Amino acid sequence: MENVELLIEALPYIKDFHGTTMVIKIGGHAMVDDKVLEETIKDIVLLYFVGIKPVVVHGGGPEISEKMEKLGLQPKFVEGLRVTDKETMEVVEMVLDGKVNSKIVTTFIRNGGKAVGLSGKDGLLVVAKKKEMRMRKGEEEIIVDLGFVGETEYINPEILRILLENGFIPVVSPVATDLMGNTYNLNADIVAGEIAAALRAKKLIMLTDVPGILTDPEDKGSLVSRIRLSELEKMRESGVLKGGMIPKFEAILRALKNGVEKAHIIDGSKPHSILIELFTKEGIGTMVEP
Ligand SMILES: Nc1ncnc2c1ncn2[C@@H]1O[C@H](COP(=O)(O)OP(=O)(O)OP(=O)(O)O)[C@@H](O)[C@H]1O
Ligand SMILES: [Mg+2]
Repeated sequence: MENVELLIEALPYIKDFHGTTMVIKIGGHAMVDDKVLEETIKDIVLLYFVGIKPVVVHGGGPEISEKMEKLGLQPKFVEGLRVTDKETMEVVEMVLDGKVNSKIVTTFIRNGGKAVGLSGKDGLLVVAKKKEMRMRKGEEEIIVDLGFVGETEYINPEILRILLENGFIPVVSPVATDLMGNTYNLNADIVAGEIAAALRAKKLIMLTDVPGILTDPEDKGSLVSRIRLSELEKMRESGVLKGGMIPKFEAILRALKNGVEKAHIIDGSKPHSILIELFTKEGIGTMVEP
């Protein structure tokens, strides 16, 4: 009886979500453990059979760093973005497309989901350009060369629409080219935010390794459960969002300013965090509203 009541409780959410598109970003830190990934994918397969059209975008930071170290390369970050020389770019592409993307697709197949793996290159989904990074150094503004770190020039969501309409679950890696064929490493949060905007998704959901947005990054108890975009912008200005949280903020900003209804940041290492966040009133992570 309890199980039945749970289902009935979820009914209003199921009704609201049926037929909608949701973009789910799985962070590299939320997939270091295969069992955790398996649970996450199971949740997404459940969403699919409830009538939601999921689009998965993944990162792979820890696996890239691990591989680089094995090859004797030193990972370096500026404001949460990986400095990417030519050699690093080759490792990034190898790890993201050859390993992480393929592992996610395999995990979907094992759990009954018809997943299709693609990078931003495929079907010209993401057209990239070199990212120009400006930083303040004392009084002056300097341009930092991040190498083959790209940003989105534009998104062609056509390939995703074709896949979604035909019942496939797209799994996207954040590797893309410019129109000259130069390959770039993009931040997966930003790609997820842009794709959510291009598809006018109902939600952008980001799975990471912290409970959500914290007012004190050192204190996991300082979770913000619900926040308006304007308040989040104030948090960004105050410098509370650091490192990997900065591109998440950018992604949320772009998504919510372009018609996405809500953004969620949740702990992907906690079992069934997606289902708790989506189908219960309390939720588990941070929900950002326009
Ligand atoms: N105010 C904050 N609240 C929560 N986390 C924060 C905050 N400021 C910085 N962070 C950091 O952001 C990190 C999450 O971003 P990170 O880029 O490391 O992971 P990810 O995006 O999930 O994975 P990947 O980059 O591999 O896709 C957290 O582990 C936390 O240390
Ligand atoms: Mg990140």
